[in-house]
Parts: sequence; structure tokens; C-alpha cells
Amino acid sequence: MASKFDRLDILRYLYAKAEDNNVNYILHSGDLTDGLSGRPQQLYDLKETSYTGQRDYVVDKYPKSSIPTYLIAGNHDLWWIKQCGADICKDISNQREDLHYLGSDCEDLKIGKLKIRLFHGKGGGSYAKSYKLQKYLDSIPTDELPHILQTGHIHQAFYMKQGNTHCFQTSCLQDLTPFERSMGFSNDKSVWWVDVYFDNNGNVYSINPQLETFGKTLVKRYH
Ligand SMILES: [Fe+2]
Repeated sequence: MASKFDRLDILRYLYAKAEDNNVNYILHSGDLTDGLSGRPQQLYDLKETSYTGQRDYVVDKYPKSSIPTYLIAGNHDLWWIKQCGADICKDISNQREDLHYLGSDCEDLKIGKLKIRLFHGKGGGSYAKSYKLQKYLDSIPTDELPHILQTGHIHQAFYMKQGNTHCFQTSCLQDLTPFERSMGFSNDKSVWWVDVYFDNNGNVYSINPQLETFGKTLVKRYH
């Protein structure tokens, strides 16, 4: 958020729809803010260029909800640590009761017996978009494997299942920036709606994903 290319219209639509569909939890896998990269041209792509500007923008404009949102910081958020030594996601979450900051880069969350890992990722693209996620999944010790692995960073959505782990690569809610276009990057705008079913003992027995995608057209309010 705080980029001129952010899509608050989609974000507002998603939270309204989540409320109407009695969603229990919303998970955000990082890059809540666009941050400050140090690349001079990025300044022209930002609505807010300062730490306080981006912090206040998110606190004010991120949809307020009765549904708790659990989030981690991504590399864009962590640029603020380099720029001014401040953890912007922690700062934002301290001002919003509905936003719960778990930490940076990689954090685990347990909902009943459902084990979830949020992982952001770093660096450029790979020869296949699933490559990094597959390598990361293979690096997780067996006793740490979650039911759900949700990853961020690459701005493209896909789903895969390996063993008992359902992997959700998330995209972004931002249009392609001039920088991304010049680099030949692509992005998707989408959200995963996920139904998790438990048996009578609270054990996970089914996880059903559905991807909702968006284009360039402004999304009207859900209602
Ligand atoms: Fe990122």
C-alpha cells in the first residue's frame, strides 16, 4: 500500500465479501507497505514517500474489520528497518486492533490443530514460478511441516499440494508498476478463499481452495 498502483478498491471489496461470508481469519503474507527501496525512480510511483506517511496511510485506509488479520512483514516493509530502523508493520498493528503482526519473513500460526506457516521470500524470479516455493518446502524439517504454507513476494498466484501441505502462493493487490514493466515482470491480482474442514476431534481432514482473480477494471463495492 501507499503506491500509486495499489488497488484499495479490491482490498475493500475483499473485506466486505469476507464479512458477508463469515470468514474467520485473513492471512497476509507480507509487503503491507510499498516501502522505500532506495531506487530513485520509485519515489515517483509512491503516494507517500515518508515512513510516517506510509504508516498513517495504512492505518487509515486498510479496511477495518471484525475479522482478525494475521500478517508478516515482507522485504518492502523491512526496507524501513534499513532506512530508519523502524518496524512499520509492528507500528501499524499497534494502532489497529484488527491487525495482528506475527513478525518478519517467516512465522508460524496455529488455529486449533491447523498449522499454518506464512513465508514472504526474497530476491528475483526463478526459471519457473513454483521453483522457489518447492525448494523452500523441501527445506522445512518434517516435524515442522504445516497444513498450509502461504507465500508472498512473487506477485503471481498458484497452488500446489505436497504430502499433507497445501501451498498457496499469493499474488498482490497492485497494478504493474513502470519498474516492473521495464523489468519484464508480470503480476496477478487475486485472493485465495480457503475452506478448512475439521473432524469431530478437531483434526484437519480437508482443505478446499478457490482463487478469485481481478483485472484492471475498478472493482465496485461488494454490496
Ligand atoms: Fe516482496
